[in-house]
Parts: sequence; structure tokens; C-alpha cells
Amino acid sequence: MKQHISKVAIIGAGLVGSSTAFSLLTQGLCDEILLVDRDAERAHGEMMDLRDGIDYLGRNIRVTAGGYAGCGDADIVVITAGPPPREGQTRLDTLGLSKEIVRSIVGPVMDAGFSGIFLIVSNPVDLIAQDVWKLSGLPKSQVIGTGTALDSARLKALLGGLVGVDPRSVHAFALGEHGDSQMVPWSRVTVGGKTFAEVLRDNPGRFEGVDLDRLVHDTVQAGWEILKRKGTTYYGIATTAAGIIKCILHDENRIIPVSTLLEGEYGESGVFCGVPAVIGHGGVQEIVRLPLTGAEEEKFHASCEVLRGFVKNL
Ligand code: LAC
Repeated sequence: MKQHISKVAIIGAGLVGSSTAFSLLTQGLCDEILLVDRDAERAHGEMMDLRDGIDYLGRNIRVTAGGYAGCGDADIVVITAGPPPREGQTRLDTLGLSKEIVRSIVGPVMDAGFSGIFLIVSNPVDLIAQDVWKLSGLPKSQVIGTGTALDSARLKALLGGLVGVDPRSVHAFALGEHGDSQMVPWSRVTVGGKTFAEVLRDNPGRFEGVDLDRLVHDTVQAGWEILKRKGTTYYGIATTAAGIIKCILHDENRIIPVSTLLEGEYGESGVFCGVPAVIGHGGVQEIVRLPLTGAEEEKFHASCEVLRGFVKNL
């Protein structure tokens, strides 16, 4: 009997790529991981290091390093290659170089016969995902950017800490650009089924001085606070990427905010940005349309507008 071997190819064996591989490995999420890097020695070294731990893992996973030809039969190709933003830069400032690098990747991956799902991690992730979608010719459901998945996790952690509950009991989404213009629709935030406004109302005195704008600001700044201290971020984004990969490979149909192409949803078209979506075996199975207040809609459109300003340069 021939069984399907689930294979994830990771392009870019830097800190984000190798941490993603490590996360997949330690959670036993796939059968095979291929590392591809233009620095072949780096990819080889990461492969050797990752392989060394296999005896202590829950299951044997094949880890290889090689070229684009091996991407042909991958279920998922994760693109992490590209320069991380440096202090003082925004993610959008890295567009030029990231675009160049990613453009050199998509052609060879498609030439290898790839027909699976691209997961884009490289920043600015919304624009790079849009570029990969255009270049690959794949259906939009098969090109996913990590988008605001990480920002939403950061927001949930902040809110969970504030209320004193497990962040997984908080439902909250950051929408729009994975960047400074993202927004949070507070009217849709719930904790254990109660809206955040109800939580505040029913606990007088407990959350004095809670400032919603400040919470959004802290969510947006979280990446920069890490960058300031350690120069770059990788565990958070790698765990997020592995979480999305798990949803795809296990056909979980979990709702995660990812970067996907809007075609009329939320009154927007022709732009990739972070919105909640059902993620399963086919990639983005469905976009969840959250009803927003007028003020929330305005903020969401403003974030899309920031991205649209760059889409024409792709
Ligand atoms: C961050 C990077 C991945 O927010 O953009 O950590």
C-alpha cells in the first residue's frame, strides 16, 4: 500500500526557516522536511543539527537539504527568505530586496512541478504573498501569507494576561496589514463568549485605565520590542507558521487570520491582507466576513489603502 508522505519544503534556512523546521519536527507534524537555501552549506548544517535530535523525538521525520527540484512533490512550500527589517525600518522598507529574492524562488519551484500550497512568511508578508500568487499562477486559495496570525496571537496573549485567562479562551483578531496600519475590531473581541465591552462593564474597578488604543499599539509594537533586544524575531513567527501548516496537513478547518486575496469581502478587492479564514487541506477554504462597525470599517480600509499603495509596484 502506498501511503501519502506529507512533505514541507522550507525556502530560506535562516533563523525563521530553521526555527519553523524545528517546530514542525518537535511537534511531529509532517513526514519529511526539505531545507533549501542559496547558501547550500548553511542548509546542510541546519539539516545535520535538526537530524541529531531525532532519537529523542516522538517519531522519525526525514530531514533533507537540497535544491528547488525537491519542491515538486511538496505539499507545502514555505518561503522565509529575505531580509528581516532592521531597527528604524518598517516591514514595507524591505519590499525591494524581498521581492527580488522571492522572484528568484517562485519560478524554479513552479518549474519543479509544484502544485501545493505556498505559505509566505517573508516580509512585507501581504505584498510578498500577493506577488507569489501572481507569479505562480496558483489559485488564490493556495497562496497564504502568515499575515496577522502572529499579531492576533500577541493580542490574545495581552488580553489573556489582562483578564487572567488562557489566551486560547480569548477570541480576537488583528486585521489588515501585518505592519503598523493593522487594526483590531473590538466589537468582535470575546472572552469566554462575552464581548470585551461586557467584560469591562461587568467588572467595575478591575480594569481601570485599560486603554484599547494602547493595547493595539502594544500589539503592533511587540515585534519591535523583540527586535530592539535581540535584533530579529523568529520563535513566534515560526510557531505561527507551523500552526498554519498543521491546519493544512491535518485538514483542521481552524479559523486563523491569514493574508489572503480579498475579492469583494469587507468591501475590498485586489489586495492581500489579514482576515480570518478557514484553513484546511485546500489552503484558504473560506474567508470569514466579520460584521464591523463603521469606525472599524474605516480603519480596515485605511490599512488596505496602505498596502494598495505598494501593490502597483509589484
Ligand atoms: C514579527 C515579524 C515576523 O512581527 O514580522 O515578528
